[in-house]
Amino acid sequence: MNPIRRMLVTGGCGFIGSMFIRLELEAHPDLQIVNLDKLTYAGNLENLADVATNPRYQLVRGDIADRELVGKLIGDGGFDAVVNFAAESHVDRSLLDSGPFIQTNVVGTQVLLDASWQAKVGRYLQVSTDEVYGSLGPTGFFTEETSIAPNSPYSASKAAADFLVRAYCHSFDFPGIITRCSNNYGPYQFPEKLIPLFISNALADKPLPVYGTGLNVRDWIHVADHCRGISAALRLGQVGEVYNFGGRQEQTNLEITHLLLEYLGKPASLIKYVTDRPGHDQRYAIDCTKAETQLAWKPQVPFTAGLRETIDWYRQNGDWVQRIKSGAYLKYYEEQYGNRLSS
Ligand code: NAD
Ligand code: DAU
Repeated sequence: MNPIRRMLVTGGCGFIGSMFIRLELEAHPDLQIVNLDKLTYAGNLENLADVATNPRYQLVRGDIADRELVGKLIGDGGFDAVVNFAAESHVDRSLLDSGPFIQTNVVGTQVLLDASWQAKVGRYLQVSTDEVYGSLGPTGFFTEETSIAPNSPYSASKAAADFLVRAYCHSFDFPGIITRCSNNYGPYQFPEKLIPLFISNALADKPLPVYGTGLNVRDWIHVADHCRGISAALRLGQVGEVYNFGGRQEQTNLEITHLLLEYLGKPASLIKYVTDRPGHDQRYAIDCTKAETQLAWKPQVPFTAGLRETIDWYRQNGDWVQRIKSGAYLKYYEEQYGNRLSS
């Protein structure tokens, strides 16, 4: 593969993509990045305000499922690599309406694969999730060999995209790589996800809606560690392979909730148990030995330090949260939590 000098990143105005672009521009002084983003409810220009005037960065507003636009962009773009973050990413929204998930996560991936194949792009990296493996019992870990068994429309759409990448690699010698990561936390995460929702609600003395018993387990990783893993997989990974990333940091949702309340100095009375998420996966835990041994990667950010920094970021960026929470988000919040919190 040629050195990566010019890269197309999709979904770069979201939580993880924006961190990836910032870290890549810093780490590779000759790298040029084009960011293709539709700017859905989750895409936010403010997330990349610090690089907006960097001459090595360019934003194209558009849809990864727009075959004409993507064909032209990748056909004329001279990209050495394509990294696909663009997705509908929230499980609860996929339970309300799976349509946009199929359109972006499946059709959008197919369009990117076709255009990348036609333009003979040197490397294509699909950013996927541990949720494609389904749910674990009290013991064991997801490895790259675990069978695919998605349980939500979101994870089913991500699994379908992974299978498309696998099939293009198998059938066409396509230079695809898949990464699957556990739950990310850190700055700029949209406040529909557990950690930013609970921090911002607690700061406003609003209830924290814990689904079911609160005993479901997630394996938390700082977003910067995930981005460093993607960068390593892109440059050192083998075509056709899958690499798992995780933080080796399992916590029940209640443990996380109590930690947040303790760090924020807020009372446990803010916790409100609400109706469970339908089909709620019990436990995720990643075995990331393959990435550690083959990519010389390991998670670096200690969980408690990372969580405290994240809380500080949300404290200091109340305007960012407010601008989101006062917009279309209000309608979603009412639909998702209105009945649950009033009962
Ligand atoms: P996000 O919801 O914060 O951001 C998604 C971005 O994609 C937004 O900027 C949005 O505008 C853009 N987008 C959506 N549809 C698009 C389309 N059709 N065309 C172009 N752009 C579009 O998501 P995130 O949490 O940053 O997740 C990024 C990727 O990482 C996703 O593929 C997700 O499945 C995967 N992932 C997320 C996590 C996590 O914990 N958040 C963990 C593992 C994997
Ligand atoms: O594992 C990787 C996945 O992590 C990513 O692929 C997804 O894009 C990302 O959204 C995340 O999915 P989860 O469903 O695990 O994340 P979420 O933050 O929505 O929920 C985390 C846990 O907290 C889960 O067990 C559900 C619970 N929860 C969530 C919300 C929003 C609550 O108890 N109450 C809530 O209000």
